[in-house]
Amino acid sequence: MDGTASSWARPLDRSFLGAALLAALIPLLAGCGERAPALGSKVSADRFEEDDDDGSTVRVPGATEVFAPNPSGIGRTLTPGGSINTKNLFFHTNDGSNSPLADVSTVEARRSAYSMLLSKGLIRVGLEVPADAEFELVAADDPYGFASSGELSLFRRPLPSANLGFLSGVMWDGRETLAGMTIREDLSHQSNSATQGHAQKPSPLTDAQRAEIVAFETGVFFAQVLDFDAGLLQLQGARGGPVELSRTPFHLGINDTLGADPTGQPFDQDAMTLFADWTGLGGNRLDEARAAVARGEALFNRKRIDITGVRGLNDVVGLTTIPGSCTTCHNTPEVGNHSVALPLDIGLTDASRRTPDLPLYTLRNKTSGEIFETTDPGRALITGKWKHRSLFKGPILRGLAARAPYFHNGFAATLPDAVEFYQERFAIGFTAQEKADLVAFLRSL
Ligand code: HEC
Repeated sequence: MDGTASSWARPLDRSFLGAALLAALIPLLAGCGERAPALGSKVSADRFEEDDDDGSTVRVPGATEVFAPNPSGIGRTLTPGGSINTKNLFFHTNDGSNSPLADVSTVEARRSAYSMLLSKGLIRVGLEVPADAEFELVAADDPYGFASSGELSLFRRPLPSANLGFLSGVMWDGRETLAGMTIREDLSHQSNSATQGHAQKPSPLTDAQRAEIVAFETGVFFAQVLDFDAGLLQLQGARGGPVELSRTPFHLGINDTLGADPTGQPFDQDAMTLFADWTGLGGNRLDEARAAVARGEALFNRKRIDITGVRGLNDVVGLTTIPGSCTTCHNTPEVGNHSVALPLDIGLTDASRRTPDLPLYTLRNKTSGEIFETTDPGRALITGKWKHRSLFKGPILRGLAARAPYFHNGFAATLPDAVEFYQERFAIGFTAQEKADLVAFLRSL
């Protein structure tokens, strides 16, 4: 996994440029049955008009939609107002160097100070070991020479700020998921923490300002609309893209794996059905690609995974092995996150998977003396609990094609790498064909 970022950070390649061209055409193609903007002179390289006054509004002429190319196709953002107002308070935060002490005096220095952001899109989060924690930090091996128990450096991918209405936990470590609060209240609280933290605003946001940010966040939907192999993802009975997504029902605990759906519905392993109608298509290249997406979806639902050694799950349920599949953990129908806050340790922060650009922390349990090495203590830095070490939430899986690298620390540079991680971690026994099919599905989300 060394040099994981290479394919992600590679300058625009040919397929990407092809995507850019297609993105200019897509509003016409994707319009079938939906509001389609007229394909006029504006729908081209200068698709995005800027406000005359100060350039703070990104507009898509005549439509409530924004299309953006990515390496395997095109994604689409749906917004309530047809534009993204970059004056919204949501946009008013920034930070992100490898160390608060980093030299940022020259361009060259800044390039190295922000290398994690530039190479893997990782933002540094500084958190201390809580005073009453059940563990202490006994060693910090930080390549950037800053971390201590007073402030650990954690390098994490920013989570998508679309599709937030489906969240069951806010932030990778759930630190903005507050007891007894709805997700909207959590997001409101988070908007203020981010503003006072990253943007260093001295006074809290007003309720009206928080409401403005939350209304923006929960009104934005994003999903892939076109895949270079499978074509438009909402044809022949398929239900890809953000319009369908915006109509997808959700409540906390929906399709709960452990049978705790508040409606009493039992768990259905077939949580993904977007591409079921493509099953068995064939006869030409496009239909064969569509059949591959459908096979990948079926594998995601059904391919047997013996889940072992996952803290937050095996220890909580009390089973050494849980026979399951991808949807055991990615159970929210058509969306793919956990439908309840259930942070897990699937092994990404193990010392054995550390890359040289990440810190390595040694923790000691204050009672038992047990030692634990990790690149990120995750939820334990919020709760202080030993059993919460290195737990992270299972994120929403829609729009994956647009946001490599994957996992909270960018461990997998590409979707095939992400599948390879699972193959190795759980000895799943995917064939090469199955891996390709699963990737075809994941990139169509
Ligand atoms: C034991 C629970 C579990 C199982 C089984 C599981 N996942 Fe995950 N998945 C997670 C968690 C937890 C994360 C977030 C981990 C992190 O980044 O620390 C995750 C993250 C991901 C991501 C990265 C998303 C992003 O935004 O970076 C992808 C892709 C993914 N899983 C695909 C799959 C596929 C495909 C399968 C089946 C082969 C699968 N998962 C099986 C729990 C699971």
